[in-house]
Amino acid sequence: MTLRTLESLGSLEGKRVIVRCDLNVPLKDGVITDDGRVRASLPTLKTLIEAGARVVVCSHLGRPDGAPDPKYSLAPVAKRLSELLEQPVAFASDTVGESARETVSALENGEVAVIENLRFNAGETAKDDATRQAFAGELAQLGDVLVSDGFGVVHRKQASVYDLAEILPSAAGLLIATELDVLDRLTENPERPYTVVLGGSKVSDKLGVISHLLPRVDRLLVGGGMLFTFLAAQGHAVASSLLEKDQLDTVRGYLAEAADRGVEIVLPTDVVVAASFAADADHETVAADAIEESSFGASGIGLDIGPDTAAAFADAIRSSKTVFWNGPMGVFEFPAFAAGTKAVAQALTEVDGLGVVGGGDSAAAVRQLGFDDDRFGHISTGGGASLEFLEGKKLPGLEVLGWA
Ligand code: 3PG
Repeated sequence: MTLRTLESLGSLEGKRVIVRCDLNVPLKDGVITDDGRVRASLPTLKTLIEAGARVVVCSHLGRPDGAPDPKYSLAPVAKRLSELLEQPVAFASDTVGESARETVSALENGEVAVIENLRFNAGETAKDDATRQAFAGELAQLGDVLVSDGFGVVHRKQASVYDLAEILPSAAGLLIATELDVLDRLTENPERPYTVVLGGSKVSDKLGVISHLLPRVDRLLVGGGMLFTFLAAQGHAVASSLLEKDQLDTVRGYLAEAADRGVEIVLPTDVVVAASFAADADHETVAADAIEESSFGASGIGLDIGPDTAAAFADAIRSSKTVFWNGPMGVFEFPAFAAGTKAVAQALTEVDGLGVVGGGDSAAAVRQLGFDDDRFGHISTGGGASLEFLEGKKLPGLEVLGWA
């Protein structure tokens, strides 16, 4: 089966179209610090506006406890959406209550409303099917059709992502179609050499993706906190760096499998070790097999890949035709430990082929480090969703749209 696309819904003029977006953006003191997901939702919304639909946008934000919590209100997101669309956007202060019903019924063709955070209602994330379906049934009252476009949440079996798509005529929006197009190119006959760069703190978060991609890639570059478990698996002391002892055997298994398959696992040759986990901590670069020999001895903490490694990773990336990167190389939030992540991001912009930034922390990193989105082949809006896709898992929010 193939994904149902917007065209399958027929004419949308005058129809109330519920659009399930993923507008789960980072907020600091009520201010959006990265509006990438809002911008990524614009092509679908503009298409619907031009088609004369009455557009009802819904999303989750954060993980509130199934009840209203002002900290997680979508109001700042509705305001940003209005600025980006350059037209008014109405805001309903509840999800399926009086405010939502009134706001939606006041919409004219081509107008847009945002309803409040779906997770303010416990039915959205309920494990129990009947509770979720009951909430989806209430949401369905607000629309004639559903356009599902929240790629970042398609791995969740939640009311607005899954059950609602079974109640209303439904199709995928343009963002989901684009994401799938790109992620498919990473799994079906990728152009070679194909390099995957993994970072982030824990190996345990990446087990599925490593197992699934190892037989498919030419090179795997490992940075971030997880590199220390790889170094320890090779017998090196890592001082007080992050170490998942319970993953050592698994990692040894990956190293052996890679050797059998002829896949190159590239580990750092040098690392930046700090006296403590702090932005202004004393730090020095040491060889990856001599971490305990830094001036900080057994209390040293590795917080970034070193400059030789960054240069080697950058060369490997630039000489590839397909690259997928997920997870920062170091603690990029601290400028002193951002160089490795910056080098990888820069190299990715220079790939002569397809360079993809997995969502989540890596997307936040490239923007925080000042890179423009359009310098990359693609920046996914899904952190967990893109990883689960690349793990080969079936994602409920896609299956319900016909994707198989
Ligand atoms: C994300 O940020 O990865 C998505 O919005 C999903 O959020 P969740 O992990 O809270 O379901």
